Amino acid sequence: MSTEMKDEFILETENLTKRFGGLVAVDHVTLKVKRNSMTMLMGPNGAGKSTFVNTCTGVLKPDEGKVIFNGMDITGWPPHKVYEAGFVRTFQIPMPFLKLTVLENVLAAMSHSGENPLKAPIKSLWIKEEEENVKRAFEILRKVGLEDMWDRESYKLGGGQLKMLEVSRALATGAKLIALDEPIGGVDPAYAGDILTYLSNLRKTWDVTFLLIEHRIDVALPFADYVYVMDRGKIISQGPPKDVENDPKVIEIYIG
Ligand SMILES: Nc1ncnc2c1ncn2[C@@H]1O[C@H](COP(=O)(O)OP(=O)(O)O)[C@@H](O)[C@H]1O
Ligand SMILES: [Mg+2]
Repeated sequence: MSTEMKDEFILETENLTKRFGGLVAVDHVTLKVKRNSMTMLMGPNGAGKSTFVNTCTGVLKPDEGKVIFNGMDITGWPPHKVYEAGFVRTFQIPMPFLKLTVLENVLAAMSHSGENPLKAPIKSLWIKEEEENVKRAFEILRKVGLEDMWDRESYKLGGGQLKMLEVSRALATGAKLIALDEPIGGVDPAYAGDILTYLSNLRKTWDVTFLLIEHRIDVALPFADYVYVMDRGKIISQGPPKDVENDPKVIEIYIG
């Protein structure tokens, strides 16, 4: 719909809180993620980053607060509903079938009318849609640098390439917001920069937003448009990477 008004922010939380017994793992977190941005949630191990994302995506029920995604109040929605609405956490997507090729894996993540009992008997329609899906799958693979690997079995991919395949599959589901929990963890440092560059380009050329969770302050920070820093459940700093990096409160938790 061309007249549809889209919010500037694809995700907003208000005082989101999650407790584990006496521990306040996520403590009244209020943040906003701008549409088509690469927003980073940074903080040391145990800060509450994963718990925050789990509470947003329905894996955990919040104790307090609100989650607004794409203009909808999704507070407390079950994970599959959040996923269907277009808010995807990479690990929520079933692991790629390692015996399938890269292309087959992307196609498998797309829903097609072959699953629609009304359309399924009309074979010509189904074939047309398959053709379109293949075209779209290649478009996605090109964006993540896996185009040349399309017919390779997935188990032959490197760790970083498998992560990009996960992102491809998320895009194939039509995801609008993809939360990546430490996407460059365990990835060869040389390829880590490539991953961040692909993601950064994607958000400019595809209708997608990335929420990047990272505990280190080094590699990913310069790629972010906006950064939130979490410590002991609370947001202690926010702003563009340069500001956050020089914030004494941030320096203290990382160095002090
Ligand atoms: N299911 C759980 N039950 C109890 N405590 C938890 C649970 N999950 C996480 N925690 C605790 O909550 C805090 C935040 O954890 P987490 O969100 O994993 O941090 P991060 O992702 O920033 O490393 C930690 O103290 C952790 O031990
Ligand atoms: Mg974590």
